[in-house]
Amino acid sequence: MAKLFNPLQVGAYTLSHRVTLAPMTRLRTTQPGDVPSAMMADFYGQRASDGGLEIVEAASVSVQARSYLGAASIYHDDQMEGWQAITKAVHAKGGRVFLQLIHGGRQSHVEMTGGVDPVAPSVVPFDGVAVTKDGFVPASPHRALGIDEIPGIVEDFRAAAQRAKDAGFDGVELHAANGYLVDQFIQDGTNQRSDSYGGPIQNRVRFLRETLEALISVWGAERVGVRISPSGEWGGISDSDPEATFSYVASVLDSYKIAYLHVIEPRVKGDDTLHHDHAPVATKYLRKHFSGPIIAAGGFDRESAIAIVESGDADLVAFGRHFSSNPDLPYRLKHDLPLTPYVRAAFWGGSEKAYSDFLTYEESQALETRTTVDEAENA
Ligand SMILES: Cc1cc2nc3c(=O)[nH]c(=O)nc-3n(C[C@H](O)[C@H](O)[C@H](O)COP(=O)(O)O)c2cc1C
Repeated sequence: MAKLFNPLQVGAYTLSHRVTLAPMTRLRTTQPGDVPSAMMADFYGQRASDGGLEIVEAASVSVQARSYLGAASIYHDDQMEGWQAITKAVHAKGGRVFLQLIHGGRQSHVEMTGGVDPVAPSVVPFDGVAVTKDGFVPASPHRALGIDEIPGIVEDFRAAAQRAKDAGFDGVELHAANGYLVDQFIQDGTNQRSDSYGGPIQNRVRFLRETLEALISVWGAERVGVRISPSGEWGGISDSDPEATFSYVASVLDSYKIAYLHVIEPRVKGDDTLHHDHAPVATKYLRKHFSGPIIAAGGFDRESAIAIVESGDADLVAFGRHFSSNPDLPYRLKHDLPLTPYVRAAFWGGSEKAYSDFLTYEESQALETRTTVDEAENA
């Protein structure tokens, strides 16, 4: 049996396989208030498997942290019941579930941040997008954070981590990828500060360290993961030396003994594959700097997922798009069954349709048999 389908210890948890659900923002919370909806609980419950790990879509830690209308948040009481329904649905099937925590930084719009300018480490020209009631729109101009504002944001991460605990999650993942606020501090294309949070990489990881330590103060390191995207292009982010920067980041994270390091391969940009023919590269060079479990993500299929775990460059593989349309993905991959194609038009907002109405392989087979019988009877 390929290692992909074998058990693994990840931080505090013994998983029974390594096929992980990648976090996917699907813009299906109830408005106003970013309240997790019943269809979200269905979605995560359907994708749960005994001993499998799911990472739930990015949840904003404050109003200032929001980027996309309809996306999840975790900073007020009315959101808690919805989150509890999600953790309950996953636990009912014996699954483990982590919540990804995010601050969008400059990837936002005044309509999402409560009418104030989005914030970033520095003011750098940016032509990215946010989602408002008008759909995808250009991000609003941002302003540089004052050094005295940073402890407040770190505290927002801590409070959100506590809420995640209260909602019954098994852990949290810090979103330090895809050009959002933590990533904006790490990479020198977006961090041009001259204070103790900018300049050399030792300073640029200060915000990462502080937010991570806030999450660890609530959960302990063995229940906290971190997601990064070396050389990723989502969010107009860039660094002058990504390999050196992220090797350093990985070694810093290694020193905390966190549950896992989650790495998005640069062949993928956000929700799309840029370079179909590129082999994984980031996990390869980061493996040397991180001794705990590595989750690889971005453009994997059955064959390449099995291969990367066998090679030792990664220990688990997170699937986004394939998991969106195959609720029983771990089962299908294990038994080499055909996959249902994903529906891009339903990625960013919508109803249950092409979201929580995908069938498992067994359900689709039963339906096919029933249809054939009906047709034979009516013939
Ligand atoms: C609709 C959609 C929403 C996404 N939202 C998030 C998110 O909230 N957080 C995150 O870290 N990545 C997000 N991603 C990226 C995925 O986690 C994953 O890295 C990407 O889909 C590549 O993996 P895949 O090739 O298996 O789909 C999103 C991707 C899609 C398709």
